Amino acid sequence: MKRSTDTEILSDPSFSRAVIDWQRAHGRHALPWQNTRDAYRIWLSEIMLQQTQVTAVLGYYARFLERFPTVHDLAVAPADDVMAHWSGLGYYTRARNLHACARRVVADYGGTFPSDPALLADLPGIGRSTAAAIAAFSSGARAAILDGNVKRVFARVFGIDEYPGIKPVEDALWRRADALLPDGDGIEAYTQGLMDLGATLCTRGKPDCGRCPLQDRCVAFATGRTSVLPVPKPKKATPERRALMLAVVDAGQVLLRQRPDSGIWGGLLSLPEYDGHVALDDADDVPAALLAGAAGEFGTVAEVEALLPLMHGFTHYRLHIQPYRIGLNQRGDTPPGHVWWDLSAIAAAPLPAPIKKLLGQLAKPSLFS
Ligand code: ADE
Ligand code: SF4
Repeated sequence: MKRSTDTEILSDPSFSRAVIDWQRAHGRHALPWQNTRDAYRIWLSEIMLQQTQVTAVLGYYARFLERFPTVHDLAVAPADDVMAHWSGLGYYTRARNLHACARRVVADYGGTFPSDPALLADLPGIGRSTAAAIAAFSSGARAAILDGNVKRVFARVFGIDEYPGIKPVEDALWRRADALLPDGDGIEAYTQGLMDLGATLCTRGKPDCGRCPLQDRCVAFATGRTSVLPVPKPKKATPERRALMLAVVDAGQVLLRQRPDSGIWGGLLSLPEYDGHVALDDADDVPAALLAGAAGEFGTVAEVEALLPLMHGFTHYRLHIQPYRIGLNQRGDTPPGHVWWDLSAIAAAPLPAPIKKLLGQLAKPSLFS
């Protein structure tokens, strides 16, 4: 019995047929790097187009080729000159790699770009997808591209509901991309067609499904999920931090501490914090004696009472605050950077909002003796 392979399961000649026919009728045909087999010009365009849109590339592309008409001109050019002609395009690693790649092509290949995608992908700045595009456009090599635009088209057409950036999902997309390649002629129109589809119809924001040659097979279209596919990168879990805060109270006043100018709540007053070594998980159970010892610098401690914890969300982490009310028998010297503040006037203190709220509750007569 014949075993089915991945390629047989995933292959579908009608897919490339639809893309090729659409590209020939409706795709882009007059871009300056099209209608040539000059690998230097194709390579240059693909590098410039890696992170930059066509309209932004056009002028740079023309000026660059005028100054560096061949890979030899580029290879022997001073780095400053290359950078000057890249200046404004952004992602300058691309320009440094471009220069290094030109020198490699001259040194290793006598100035002729190899046509094997695997050899191209070994050159600086050329990844697997870019290598395939250069090889397809410059020599008709049958190699699959999978750039960001193509991932988006595939994620929608095949209804892939996992983030396409993670390795197993990306590997599966590469297998599909390989399996869907056209069998005979047309790799150039197919490759350009996938790029054109992603750039002109199957755009990130609002895909124009009405004109799309893949509509009849598109899972996202059929299930009304074009706006949720591809799924975005999963957010990292928000880090959690914990702070033990000491509300030292005496005679209707609370002791506040000036915060450093930089960092969270920079320049505001806040509560002194207990910064002894407490495992985060143990924070709820910090022995009262430890806290009393820490508060000893403010006076003679009479009582320690755990107050209700609160949580405050910052952009990059969540702060869990465990406040303690520390009652004093006797006030000590006020340490530098500290100030006693009337609880009845706490609304006027330059405090972070959650701390002000906490102390506002502490100021209520029923809770404060
Ligand atoms: N983006 C990347 N390669 C491209 C190409 N050859 N034409 C248009 N846009 C592209
Ligand atoms: Fe993209 Fe719409 Fe075409 Fe599906 S039908 S591939 S969502 S443009």
